[in-house]
Amino acid sequence: MAQKIIIDTDPGVDDTIAITTALRSPELEVVGLTSIFGNAVIETTTQNALRLVELEGHDSIPVARGSEVPLLMELESIASDVHGRDGMGNTNPPPPKGKAIEKSAAEFIIDTVRAYPGEVILAPVGPLTNIALALEIDPGIASLIKKIVLMGGAVSIAGNISPVAEANIYHDAHAADIVMQASCPVVMVGLDVTEQVIMTPQYFAELFKVENPATNLIKRILPVYQEYHDRFRGMGGSIHTHDPSAIAYLIDPGLFKTQSVPVFVETEGHCQGKTTADWHKQWENRVETEVCMEVDSSGVLDLIKERLTK
Ligand code: BDR
Ligand code: CA
Repeated sequence: MAQKIIIDTDPGVDDTIAITTALRSPELEVVGLTSIFGNAVIETTTQNALRLVELEGHDSIPVARGSEVPLLMELESIASDVHGRDGMGNTNPPPPKGKAIEKSAAEFIIDTVRAYPGEVILAPVGPLTNIALALEIDPGIASLIKKIVLMGGAVSIAGNISPVAEANIYHDAHAADIVMQASCPVVMVGLDVTEQVIMTPQYFAELFKVENPATNLIKRILPVYQEYHDRFRGMGGSIHTHDPSAIAYLIDPGLFKTQSVPVFVETEGHCQGKTTADWHKQWENRVETEVCMEVDSSGVLDLIKERLTK
């Protein structure tokens, strides 16, 4: 039976690749998308989530609007030069047909987890505010969530939004620290692995040989994201594969090697959003997170290409 997942997302160019891959994967049943601020403001990411379910006829999948601001910290200005002002590479896409459901993202997460106890995996690929809110509103769901597989953090390499922090964790560090203490299993798909999975111009050329709504959309929205990677990291048209790697983990965890370790999140100052693995258990007692440390990059890339081109 397909694995039920809720993708909590701030689409977003790489979120788009992740969601289209998930929706084309028979191993996964996407029971809902929940939106979150991050790559764009909440109105925009919610509209993009609706556009993505409508793209290939998945309109029956509910989209619930999430938080517009972090739990405690101020909302930082949105970096529109990474994913475009519209989160879709400045392509100004037409409005979606549908609307978000009445429930908030946190309510939707709580109700869905309670409706399918022990069956639902949460897959956040943006700031963790909605997940933390759901855990705070209804702490009882922690024992009913099958697993949280999140894209975020970095324990062995530098950050991307700051010298020490990955963007999703940085944007709501308090929420991330709550999630790292959740009693359900938590898997962290962070920069340690996502920066090893690189989509090159040649990879995209092969991907775009097959034209379908997903590949055509990715082709349109990609250039802004490629320019950002080139400006920031000199990647000459290649990109890191962040959110789609989390989806690859959900489809085939065997592509990754994890290590179990308590993870702490710095919530303020210069190191806001830094994720520290307490390898030698020197800080206070905390549940362990399964941190992805190694990845079969070509396996992940082949899997994504296979799903997007079939
Ligand atoms: C994460 O930040 C966002 O820009 C991407 O969508 C991804 O979720 C990578 O650090
Ligand atoms: Ca994202």
